[in-house]
Amino acid sequence: MSTRRPIVAGNWKMNTTIAEGLALVDAMLPKLQTFDAVDRVVCPPFVSLSAIAERLRGTPIRLGAQNLYAEAKGAFTGEIAPGMLAGLVDYVIIGHSERRQYFGEDDALVNRKVRAALEVGFVPIVCVGESLEQHERGETESFVTSQVRAAFDGIGDLGTVVVAYEPIWAIGTGRAATPEGANATIALIRATVGDQAGAAVASALRIQYGGSVTADNFAAFSAQPDIDGALVGGASLRPDQFTDIVRLAAESVT
Ligand code: PGA
Repeated sequence: MSTRRPIVAGNWKMNTTIAEGLALVDAMLPKLQTFDAVDRVVCPPFVSLSAIAERLRGTPIRLGAQNLYAEAKGAFTGEIAPGMLAGLVDYVIIGHSERRQYFGEDDALVNRKVRAALEVGFVPIVCVGESLEQHERGETESFVTSQVRAAFDGIGDLGTVVVAYEPIWAIGTGRAATPEGANATIALIRATVGDQAGAAVASALRIQYGGSVTADNFAAFSAQPDIDGALVGGASLRPDQFTDIVRLAAESVT
Protein backbone atom coordinates (compact mmCIF):
# COMPACT_ATOMS: atom_id res chain seq x y z
CA MET A 1 0.00 0.00 0.00
CA SER A 2 1.27 3.44 -0.91
CA THR A 3 2.06 6.04 1.73
CA ARG A 4 1.08 8.83 -0.63
CA ARG A 5 -1.99 10.79 0.41
CA PRO A 6 -4.77 10.43 -2.18
CA ILE A 7 -6.06 13.55 -3.85
CA VAL A 8 -9.48 13.75 -5.48
CA ALA A 9 -10.23 16.89 -7.48
CA GLY A 10 -13.49 17.86 -9.15
CA ASN A 11 -13.07 19.63 -12.47
CA TRP A 12 -16.38 21.38 -13.00
CA LYS A 13 -15.29 22.62 -16.44
CA MET A 14 -17.60 25.26 -17.97
CA ASN A 15 -20.57 24.34 -15.81
CA THR A 16 -22.49 26.08 -13.01
CA THR A 17 -23.44 29.67 -12.41
CA ILE A 18 -22.30 31.20 -9.12
CA ALA A 19 -25.60 30.24 -7.48
CA GLU A 20 -25.45 26.71 -8.86
CA GLY A 21 -21.85 26.34 -7.72
CA LEU A 22 -22.74 27.42 -4.20
CA ALA A 23 -25.63 24.97 -4.14
CA LEU A 24 -23.31 22.23 -5.31
CA VAL A 25 -20.74 22.80 -2.56
CA ASP A 26 -23.51 23.11 0.02
CA ALA A 27 -24.83 19.73 -1.05
CA MET A 28 -21.41 18.09 -0.84
CA LEU A 29 -19.83 19.77 2.17
CA PRO A 30 -21.29 17.80 5.08
CA LYS A 31 -20.10 14.44 3.75
CA LEU A 32 -16.98 15.69 2.05
CA GLN A 33 -15.65 17.14 5.28
CA THR A 34 -15.56 13.73 6.93
CA PHE A 35 -12.93 12.04 4.75
CA ASP A 36 -9.77 13.43 6.27
CA ALA A 37 -7.46 10.84 4.73
CA VAL A 38 -7.92 12.45 1.31
CA ASP A 39 -7.02 15.85 -0.12
CA ARG A 40 -10.32 17.16 -1.49
CA VAL A 41 -10.33 19.86 -4.16
CA VAL A 42 -13.06 21.50 -6.21
CA CYS A 43 -12.28 23.49 -9.34
CA PRO A 44 -15.23 25.75 -10.28
CA PRO A 45 -15.19 28.31 -13.08
CA PHE A 46 -13.15 31.46 -12.37
CA VAL A 47 -16.16 33.70 -11.75
CA SER A 48 -17.37 31.48 -8.91
CA LEU A 49 -14.05 31.23 -7.08
CA SER A 50 -14.55 34.17 -4.70
CA ALA A 51 -18.02 33.13 -3.59
CA ILE A 52 -17.05 29.51 -3.19
CA ALA A 53 -13.81 30.39 -1.38
CA GLU A 54 -15.97 32.25 1.12
CA ARG A 55 -18.24 29.24 1.53
CA LEU A 56 -15.29 26.87 2.03
CA ARG A 57 -13.50 29.03 4.57
CA GLY A 58 -12.75 27.02 7.70
CA THR A 59 -13.38 23.69 5.97
CA PRO A 60 -10.75 21.21 4.82
CA ILE A 61 -11.97 21.43 1.23
CA ARG A 62 -9.53 23.24 -1.02
CA LEU A 63 -10.15 25.27 -4.13
CA GLY A 64 -8.47 24.96 -7.50
CA ALA A 65 -8.56 27.00 -10.70
CA GLN A 66 -9.06 25.28 -14.05
CA ASN A 67 -6.34 27.27 -15.78
CA LEU A 68 -4.08 30.30 -15.49
CA TYR A 69 -1.88 32.31 -17.77
CA ALA A 70 1.90 32.23 -17.55
CA GLU A 71 2.46 36.01 -17.43
CA ALA A 72 2.18 38.21 -14.36
CA LYS A 73 0.11 40.96 -16.00
CA GLY A 74 -0.36 42.92 -19.18
CA ALA A 75 -2.14 42.96 -22.51
CA PHE A 76 -3.55 39.43 -22.56
CA THR A 77 -7.27 40.03 -22.92
CA GLY A 78 -9.40 37.46 -21.20
CA GLU A 79 -6.58 35.74 -19.34
CA ILE A 80 -6.07 35.32 -15.60
CA ALA A 81 -2.65 35.89 -14.00
CA PRO A 82 -1.33 33.69 -11.19
CA GLY A 83 -1.18 36.65 -8.79
CA MET A 84 -4.92 37.28 -9.30
CA LEU A 85 -5.62 33.81 -7.94
CA ALA A 86 -3.27 34.08 -4.98
CA GLY A 87 -5.19 33.79 -1.73
CA LEU A 88 -8.17 32.32 -3.57
CA VAL A 89 -6.95 28.90 -4.70
CA ASP A 90 -4.32 26.38 -3.65
CA TYR A 91 -4.38 24.25 -6.81
CA VAL A 92 -4.49 24.90 -10.51
CA ILE A 93 -5.23 22.46 -13.33
CA ILE A 94 -2.67 22.88 -16.11
CA GLY A 95 -2.62 21.44 -19.61
CA HIS A 96 -6.02 19.78 -19.50
CA SER A 97 -6.60 18.01 -22.81
CA GLU A 98 -9.51 20.35 -23.57
CA ARG A 99 -7.11 23.30 -23.24
CA ARG A 100 -4.63 21.54 -25.50
CA GLN A 101 -7.30 20.46 -28.01
CA TYR A 102 -9.58 23.50 -28.26
CA PHE A 103 -7.30 26.34 -27.22
CA GLY A 104 -4.04 25.30 -28.82
CA GLU A 105 -1.98 24.90 -25.66
CA ASP A 106 1.28 23.14 -26.45
CA ASP A 107 3.90 21.53 -24.26
CA ALA A 108 6.00 24.70 -24.14
CA LEU A 109 3.08 26.75 -22.80
CA VAL A 110 2.23 24.02 -20.30
CA ASN A 111 5.81 24.17 -19.03
CA ARG A 112 5.60 27.96 -18.63
CA LYS A 113 2.31 27.63 -16.78
CA VAL A 114 3.72 25.01 -14.41
CA ARG A 115 6.60 27.37 -13.62
CA ALA A 116 4.22 30.29 -13.11
CA ALA A 117 2.01 28.25 -10.80
CA LEU A 118 4.92 27.02 -8.70
CA GLU A 119 6.31 30.54 -8.42
CA VAL A 120 3.22 31.77 -6.59
CA GLY A 121 2.99 28.62 -4.49
CA PHE A 122 0.11 26.79 -6.15
CA VAL A 123 0.03 23.03 -6.53
CA PRO A 124 -0.20 22.40 -10.27
CA ILE A 125 -2.31 19.44 -11.37
CA VAL A 126 -0.61 18.73 -14.67
CA CYS A 127 -2.70 16.76 -17.16
CA VAL A 128 -1.29 14.37 -19.72
CA GLY A 129 -2.89 11.71 -21.88
CA GLU A 130 -3.03 10.26 -25.36
CA SER A 131 -5.71 10.45 -28.04
CA LEU A 132 -7.68 7.45 -29.26
CA GLU A 133 -5.61 7.31 -32.45
CA GLN A 134 -2.37 7.32 -30.49
CA HIS A 135 -3.77 4.70 -28.15
CA GLU A 136 -4.75 2.45 -31.03
CA ARG A 137 -1.40 2.91 -32.75
CA GLY A 138 0.41 1.79 -29.58
CA GLU A 139 1.91 5.26 -29.01
CA THR A 140 0.60 5.82 -25.49
CA GLU A 141 3.92 5.29 -23.74
CA SER A 142 6.05 7.41 -26.03
CA PHE A 143 3.49 10.24 -26.21
CA VAL A 144 2.71 10.45 -22.52
CA THR A 145 6.34 10.31 -21.46
CA SER A 146 7.17 13.08 -23.94
CA GLN A 147 4.37 15.22 -22.47
CA VAL A 148 5.70 14.65 -18.96
CA ARG A 149 9.30 15.44 -19.93
CA ALA A 150 8.21 18.64 -21.66
CA ALA A 151 5.91 19.78 -18.84
CA PHE A 152 8.69 19.57 -16.24
CA ASP A 153 11.70 20.31 -18.43
CA GLY A 154 14.24 22.45 -16.59
CA ILE A 155 12.11 22.84 -13.45
CA GLY A 156 14.32 22.28 -10.44
CA ASP A 157 11.84 21.56 -7.69
CA LEU A 158 8.85 19.38 -8.50
CA GLY A 159 8.11 18.86 -4.83
CA THR A 160 4.41 19.68 -4.72
CA VAL A 161 3.35 18.84 -8.26
CA VAL A 162 0.43 16.48 -8.96
CA VAL A 163 0.03 14.72 -12.30
CA ALA A 164 -3.30 13.61 -13.76
CA TYR A 165 -3.16 10.87 -16.36
CA GLU A 166 -6.25 11.34 -18.50
CA PRO A 167 -6.51 9.37 -21.73
CA ILE A 168 -8.46 11.68 -24.05
CA TRP A 169 -10.61 8.80 -25.28
CA ALA A 170 -11.79 8.20 -21.72
CA ILE A 171 -12.78 11.80 -20.93
CA GLY A 172 -16.53 12.33 -20.88
CA THR A 173 -17.14 9.21 -22.93
CA GLY A 174 -18.26 6.77 -20.24
CA ARG A 175 -15.44 4.56 -21.45
CA ALA A 176 -12.87 4.58 -18.65
CA ALA A 177 -9.44 3.03 -19.07
CA THR A 178 -8.89 -0.34 -17.44
CA PRO A 179 -7.47 0.07 -13.93
CA GLU A 180 -4.48 -2.12 -14.87
CA GLY A 181 -3.82 -0.20 -18.08
CA ALA A 182 -4.05 3.15 -16.29
CA ASN A 183 -1.76 1.90 -13.55
CA ALA A 184 0.84 0.77 -16.09
CA THR A 185 0.92 4.18 -17.77
CA ILE A 186 0.98 5.93 -14.41
CA ALA A 187 3.91 3.77 -13.29
CA LEU A 188 5.68 4.84 -16.46
CA ILE A 189 4.95 8.51 -15.69
CA ARG A 190 6.44 7.96 -12.24
CA ALA A 191 9.56 6.41 -13.78
CA THR A 192 9.87 9.32 -16.21
CA VAL A 193 9.73 11.83 -13.36
CA GLY A 194 12.30 9.67 -11.59
CA ASP A 195 14.68 10.17 -14.52
CA GLN A 196 14.08 13.92 -14.40
CA ALA A 197 13.96 14.64 -10.70
CA GLY A 198 15.27 11.60 -8.86
CA ALA A 199 13.78 8.57 -7.18
CA ALA A 200 12.66 10.32 -4.00
CA VAL A 201 10.58 12.90 -5.86
CA ALA A 202 9.11 10.20 -8.09
CA SER A 203 8.08 7.95 -5.25
CA ALA A 204 6.40 10.86 -3.44
CA LEU A 205 4.71 12.19 -6.61
CA ARG A 206 0.94 11.90 -6.56
CA ILE A 207 -0.56 10.78 -9.86
CA GLN A 208 -4.31 10.77 -10.42
CA TYR A 209 -6.31 8.86 -12.95
CA GLY A 210 -8.97 10.82 -14.85
CA GLY A 211 -11.49 9.88 -17.53
CA SER A 212 -15.08 8.76 -16.84
CA VAL A 213 -14.39 8.12 -13.16
CA THR A 214 -17.59 7.31 -11.26
CA ALA A 215 -18.47 5.97 -7.85
CA ASP A 216 -19.12 2.65 -9.58
CA ASN A 217 -15.71 2.18 -11.17
CA PHE A 218 -13.33 4.07 -8.91
CA ALA A 219 -12.68 1.39 -6.28
CA ALA A 220 -10.74 -0.66 -8.83
CA PHE A 221 -8.61 2.36 -9.76
CA SER A 222 -7.83 3.36 -6.18
CA ALA A 223 -6.78 -0.22 -5.42
CA GLN A 224 -3.95 0.09 -7.96
CA PRO A 225 -0.53 0.68 -6.40
CA ASP A 226 0.47 3.74 -8.47
CA ILE A 227 -2.89 5.55 -8.62
CA ASP A 228 -3.24 8.25 -5.97
CA GLY A 229 -6.73 9.58 -6.52
CA ALA A 230 -8.77 10.98 -9.36
CA LEU A 231 -9.44 14.05 -11.44
CA VAL A 232 -13.19 13.87 -11.87
CA GLY A 233 -15.22 15.72 -14.50
CA GLY A 234 -18.87 14.82 -14.99
CA ALA A 235 -19.28 12.95 -11.71
CA SER A 236 -17.92 15.95 -9.76
CA LEU A 237 -21.15 17.81 -10.56
CA ARG A 238 -23.16 15.14 -8.75
CA PRO A 239 -22.79 15.41 -4.98
CA ASP A 240 -23.48 11.74 -4.23
CA GLN A 241 -21.06 10.57 -6.89
CA PHE A 242 -18.26 12.92 -5.91
CA THR A 243 -18.50 12.25 -2.18
CA ASP A 244 -18.60 8.50 -2.87
CA ILE A 245 -15.45 8.73 -4.99
CA VAL A 246 -13.74 10.56 -2.13
CA ARG A 247 -14.99 7.91 0.30
CA LEU A 248 -13.52 5.15 -1.88
CA ALA A 249 -10.19 6.99 -1.97
CA ALA A 250 -10.26 7.26 1.82
CA GLU A 251 -11.08 3.57 2.17
CA SER A 252 -8.09 2.65 0.02
CA VAL A 253 -5.71 4.06 2.63
CA THR A 254 -7.51 3.51 5.93
P1 PGA B 1 -14.81 13.09 -17.00
O1 PGA B 1 -13.72 14.25 -17.16
O2 PGA B 1 -14.69 12.57 -15.58
O3 PGA B 1 -16.11 13.74 -17.26
O4 PGA B 1 -14.46 12.03 -17.98
C1 PGA B 1 -12.45 14.14 -16.56
C2 PGA B 1 -11.64 15.39 -16.85
O5 PGA B 1 -11.72 15.90 -17.98
O6 PGA B 1 -10.91 15.88 -15.98
